[in-house]
Amino acid sequence: MSDRYINFANSDIGRRLVGAVGLPTPARLERWQAGRLRPIEGPLLLGGGPLAAKVAEFANRLTDQVYSFASEDLSATAWVPGLGTKLKAVLFDASEITDIDELKRLREFFQPLLRSLAPSAHVVILGRAPQCFEDPLAGVAQRALEGFSRSLAKELREGGTLQLLYVAEDAEDQLEGALRFFLSPKSAFVSGQVLHLNACASRVQDWTRPLAGRKALVTGAARGIGAAIAETLARDGAEVVLLDVPPAKSDLEALAARLGGRALTLDICAEDAAAQLIAALPDGIDIVVHNAGITRDKTLANMTPEFWDSVLAVNLKAPQLLTQALFDSHTLQDNGRVILLASISGIAGNRGQSNYAASKAGLIGLAQAWAPKMAERGASIAAVAPGFIETRMTAAIPFAMREAGRRMSSLGQGGLPQDVAEAVAWLSQPGSGAVNGQVLRVCGQAVMGA
Ligand SMILES: NC(=O)c1ccc[n+]([C@@H]2O[C@H](COP(=O)([O-])OP(=O)(O)OC[C@H]3O[C@@H](n4cnc5c(N)ncnc54)[C@H](O)[C@@H]3O)[C@@H](O)[C@H]2O)c1
Repeated sequence: MSDRYINFANSDIGRRLVGAVGLPTPARLERWQAGRLRPIEGPLLLGGGPLAAKVAEFANRLTDQVYSFASEDLSATAWVPGLGTKLKAVLFDASEITDIDELKRLREFFQPLLRSLAPSAHVVILGRAPQCFEDPLAGVAQRALEGFSRSLAKELREGGTLQLLYVAEDAEDQLEGALRFFLSPKSAFVSGQVLHLNACASRVQDWTRPLAGRKALVTGAARGIGAAIAETLARDGAEVVLLDVPPAKSDLEALAARLGGRALTLDICAEDAAAQLIAALPDGIDIVVHNAGITRDKTLANMTPEFWDSVLAVNLKAPQLLTQALFDSHTLQDNGRVILLASISGIAGNRGQSNYAASKAGLIGLAQAWAPKMAERGASIAAVAPGFIETRMTAAIPFAMREAGRRMSSLGQGGLPQDVAEAVAWLSQPGSGAVNGQVLRVCGQAVMGA
């Protein structure tokens, strides 16, 4: 479903009208286009502590325009506020801030450049996990980065995004994969997020096809977000197996044929679903995306047992049982990646969605509970929590609630299935074991549950 307001607000007449009555103008977000090679098309500014120097070592693979902040001692060309070209990406290493007074370096670095950001600019702040410091004050200063990052993310304009990554000392070699996502249009609808990068032994061999040689299963792949995930994983080089219910067979087969993949019709709640799935994957599977999901909304006072049971069965019980079966049978390969489609409903709760929110919060618990076991085999599990995404599911929401869902976020609009798919594709990469057990929201920094 298209968002007509964005088109109107960005037209000549619409811009004037919307401005005159004081309504917000959500930006047209820049997204990754097929055939693009460089993660950043434009200037990247590096600044701050020693991790910025680490990034400088591979920055020329991200863009051919690398700058350092005027006073910083990096080999890149100096960028002078107000004189240089508009910045497309900014990276600031705040890992050396170990004292409350030093937090002012954030203001000193960011204030001069905020008016020099290009549309859809991407900003990343790096830190060290607060709990890894012996000195409690250092932990306090690093924890403060969270509030700063989430606030500045809300102040960015014209589709700008900002994230905070706490990088473990033995995870610095995973920075490139994370920055190729967070500093590029692949993360167009991700903002205000805080993630921890931890050590991961695997790495991407070829950045143009990061999933080459990997087999991926996507449930609920006949349409919507699942179809976009299948397309994106195939674009990144994976061999895809698309699963959906028997009534979706023709759509599923058409998409599988287009992607050079395989279609598998199966109800994930069938009693023998696990056995059927294992039999259908005799050569094992490297990536499993539990995307199939349903809503049956009612306030709890009106909730029928059927509504409750079906949502819990599809959204939570099936992913748990199938993950267990794929893991125990070693169908999920060592170094495998499991991605669960949660929802911000599962983080914030939502009126009329006690069943759905319970199932999605349960998925987040599933990622956390399974992470240590997965890590023993070099595998990982993570959840993606989409906010308002333009699909059939959200097209069915009544108009007023739909508009509220779209606008109540820093980016002031709904996301596209592609936005969720890009996040899943990043989490499917060999190096993304670095975020084992965590949740990534793809919600445009929605107010809900923030
Ligand atoms: N659309 C959003 O805004 C949004 C927001 C947050 C989370 N999500 C989650 O993202 C996922 C995809 O959402 P969508 O909007 O694309 O939904 P959708 O309804 O368009 O697609 C879901 C797919 O899952 C399949 N499916 C349902 N039950 C199944 C079963 N028992 N076995 C196999 N396949 C089954 C359906 O046939 C369908 O093809 C869901 O898990 C949803 O909860 C969506």
